[in-house]
Amino acid sequence: MGAGSPRPLVGQFTEAVEPGLPFELRLPQGALPPTLNSAGRYFLARCSNDVGLERDCDWSLYLRRPLSVCSRQVRDQGDFWRVYPGIGQAVPRQDTADEIPDRVGMDPALLWLTRRRPGDPLNLLGPFGNGFPVPTEPHNLLIAVDVADDPAWFWQLYSLCEQSLDQGGRATILLRAGSENELAALIPWLPVQVEVRTATDEPEWLEQLRQTAAWADLICAGVPASRFGELRHVTGQSRIRTDSSFVQVLVKADLACGVGACLVCVVPTGRGGFTRACVHGPVFDLMELVD
Ligand code: FES
Repeated sequence: MGAGSPRPLVGQFTEAVEPGLPFELRLPQGALPPTLNSAGRYFLARCSNDVGLERDCDWSLYLRRPLSVCSRQVRDQGDFWRVYPGIGQAVPRQDTADEIPDRVGMDPALLWLTRRRPGDPLNLLGPFGNGFPVPTEPHNLLIAVDVADDPAWFWQLYSLCEQSLDQGGRATILLRAGSENELAALIPWLPVQVEVRTATDEPEWLEQLRQTAAWADLICAGVPASRFGELRHVTGQSRIRTDSSFVQVLVKADLACGVGACLVCVVPTGRGGFTRACVHGPVFDLMELVD
């Protein structure tokens, strides 16, 4: 490892990893400085064993995988981070007939994570990047997530509700989903104090966005890049003035090196250029990304 390279940390699983859900890691107390803005940042996890047959044979595990930070809690027993694997979309593979039946085709790194047990170690780099800002004074937070595009948006942003309430704020979450059943599965995860708005079609989503954006002090969004223009347009229409940093978006990008070296994470900016999501994001001011 060269001078200036990020130093690895060893975390511990506190629970088993279920595909499609966040999980908790315990990090050594005092290893990372306290910070409020952890949601949206990410670790790069080495999803393979240090030694042994697995390490020798399975090259697909060599690339570190991003774990998106949902929340952090420093408690007496340690420094606990809830993370969501930004990986694991099922990619059909023909060579996994001997795997667990319901996990055939799973991303190999996610499969490795699901085989860990509480107390097992996990080698991490990070946390990297910019997280969502959390105001320290009472505020009205709107969280807008397009679950119909990808349920990951919900898991990556839902902890912001609790963080906002902890700061004396008020939180509303607007969920766009493909069906009522999808919504019913997610809503119980939210604190009861959170106002929940839902939409299952496009006109309803735009109307709800218009209504809720009008009174919000800050919008944190998890939506595909194809919706950035619409988000800017609707929020601009709903308000007399839009402050800079009013809308913060998490972008979907491949996060591989975490230090701006490999360029796989570049995303277009509103001025016609490109920026690296790993170091300048993955949370951006929306105005940086649209005209
Ligand atoms: S992940 Fe390598 S440059 Fe961004």
